[in-house]
This record gives sequence, C-alpha cells and structure tokens, in this order.
Amino acid sequence: MKAIQITEETGPDSALALVELPEPDASHPFTPGAGVLVEVHCAGVSFPELLQTRGLYQMKPPLPFVPGSEVGGVVISAPEGASVKAGDRVAAFCALGGFAETAVAPEFFTFALSPKLDFAQGAGLILNYHTAYFALAMRGRVKAGESVLVHGAAGGVGTASLQVAKGLGARTIALVSSEEKRAVAERAGADETVLLGDAWKDEVLERSSGGVDAVLDPVGGDRFTDSLRCLREDGRLIVVGFTGGSIPEVRVNRLLLRNTEVVGAGWGAYVMGKPELNREIGAAVNRMVDEGHVAPIVGERFPMERAADALKLLDERRATGKVVLDVRAG
Ligand SMILES: NC(=O)c1ccc[n+]([C@@H]2O[C@H](COP(=O)([O-])OP(=O)(O)OC[C@H]3O[C@@H](n4cnc5c(N)ncnc54)[C@H](OP(=O)(O)O)[C@@H]3O)[C@@H](O)[C@H]2O)c1
Repeated sequence: MKAIQITEETGPDSALALVELPEPDASHPFTPGAGVLVEVHCAGVSFPELLQTRGLYQMKPPLPFVPGSEVGGVVISAPEGASVKAGDRVAAFCALGGFAETAVAPEFFTFALSPKLDFAQGAGLILNYHTAYFALAMRGRVKAGESVLVHGAAGGVGTASLQVAKGLGARTIALVSSEEKRAVAERAGADETVLLGDAWKDEVLERSSGGVDAVLDPVGGDRFTDSLRCLREDGRLIVVGFTGGSIPEVRVNRLLLRNTEVVGAGWGAYVMGKPELNREIGAAVNRMVDEGHVAPIVGERFPMERAADALKLLDERRATGKVVLDVRAG
C-alpha cells in the first residue's frame, strides 16, 4: 500500500516521504491482537501530525513511522463483537498510521459514519468533535441556554466546538483573526463573530450582556487573562490547547474574586482506557449529526503526496476547517 512516513524530525518541508509498505495486520497497539482494518478514503490532518514532524508531540514512535490520527473509510474486517462490520462506512481514530491506504483502529475508536456525511467529513469527526463534546459537555458542564466564547473558531477544534455547543443548546460567540476566518465560523453556525483586535474583550462582553458562561480555548497565549475577564459568575474557562505557542499562567485571585474556574480538557489520555466513555461520546456526536447540528467543515484537500503542503497550512495559520488528504485520489 501507499503511505506517508515521517522519516526525520526536521519539520513539514523535509520530514515526509511517500513510500510503499506491506498491508498492516488487524492488530492495534491499544488492543494488541485485535483491530478494525479500514480501507482509507480520507485522512484528517491535525496539529499532532505537524508537531510530530518536529519531534514535539508527546507520542514519539521510533522513526520512520506513518502518522495520521484519524480517517474516514470502509471497514475491511472487524474483530468479533465489534459494533461495525466489513463494508460499513466509518469514522475511525487510529492515533497513528492514518496517512495510508489501509489503517488499523481499535474497535472502541471506530464509529458508524452517518449517510449525511462524506468520507472527508468522517476524517474530521473524531479528534475535533469528540474533543469538543468532552471539553464542553463533560469538563465544562455547558448546558442549554448558556453562552460560549470559542477561540480559534475557524480551526478544526474551533468549528467543531461551535457546532457541538449548538447541539448542547448553547449560544456561541466565535473569535477569529481574519474576515476569511469569520466567514468559516459563520458557516459553522456561530451566532456571533468577533474579530481579534485590541477591543475583542469589550466586544465579547457587550455581545454577551456582561459575560459568557464558558470559554473554549485551543489557543492559549496572552489572550488568556482577557478570556477570564469575559466570564460571568460561575463561568468556566476550558483549556484545550496552545496553538498560540505560549502556555498562560493564572493569577488565582482572579478566580476567587469572580467565582470562576479554569478547567483542563485533555481528551486523548482521558478516554484511552475507557471504551464505554468513547461509545457514549460517539453516540452523542452521531445524535448531533442526525439532528443537523454537526457537519464537519472541510477546508483544503490534498492528494497524499502533498501531505507536506497540508501540514504547512496548519503551521502557517492558514488552515480553515478540517484539512484532509484524499488518500485514493492519485
Ligand atoms: N485537549 C485535547 O484533547 C485536544 C484535542 C485535539 C486538539 N487539541 C489541540 O487544540 C489545538 C487546536 O487544534 P486545531 O486542530 O483546531 O488547529 P487549527 O485548525 O490549526 O486551528 C488553530 C487556531 O489557532 C489560532 N492560532 C492562534 N495563534 C496561532 C499560531 N501561532 N499558529 C497557528 N494557529 C494559531 C488560529 O485561529 P485565529 O487565526 O483565528 O486566531 C487557528 O485557526 C492544538 O493545540 C491541538 O493540539 C487538543
């Protein structure tokens, strides 16, 4: 099969190679001896893959390895007792190995793909939407009638969070850095959009009549303190990532004075050993697909041999929606 390998940790320009590899066995490292074999149609391109090209991600397999955390495709074979079977269209989280014509995923990370969604949308369904549901509903306790500010709202996690928040019955304010990204956030269903600039905090406070109930933050950096200032009483700032580069620090007196919380939401490590929790999140996300709240926004698509260009979009802050490799395009 054709696959993309990371051969050295020198960044997206030089780290990747298109190679021919044997088909994988139906065994996944998380479920040794068992796994769902998937004929990959589309592979999602995400921040972890970018970090892996520089050796900066927490998961560091020995070189060379095939990156690619999630795919949309068709089941070739599934272990006994699995909820999917050969021929089913699925969204699958494989952690590694997705940038290939065939990938292997654990059974508890493989979900039936709604006929409403195509394979590219399936390749953007798990990492971002499961994270968004975990962060908003489970960690941030967002309820119907609440308001949510979403940072990086035109990105993968951002667009997913806008849609999942709507699925939970919340009102959303999207913060974005350009007009182009504003249009993407609107397409994702944002109720309000605010352009990043000197006065963004004041604008958020005005549009939320004094403060939001939750902030979903995949960006971090120096906007963190103003995010805290955007919270109303009992508000929660949900920490999801640090695309802005720096890890913010909190002066905890702010939390005491305003009766607010900072909540961490690290999806992968938390759900890893919990098959039932994954099924619960998968069912909730699929319900939101059926209800019409969730439909991943697919951004640029690349053939597999242009994986480096796909990763550079993320690196250069130019990605909107989910960036996808069309694995069978060539
Ligand atoms: N906690 C978890 O379980 C979990 C799960 C999945 C992903 N994540 C993390 O969430 C973060 C977002 O992932 P994503 O897939 O949504 O990424 P993405 O699609 O590239 O979007 C990230 C957004 O961050 C903003 N940003 C601000 N400064 C940036 C910079 N210097 N470089 C790049 N982007 C910058 C950009 O929005 P503006 O230009 O509008 O500011 C961009 O749209 C990553 O750190 C990822 O590792 C965490």
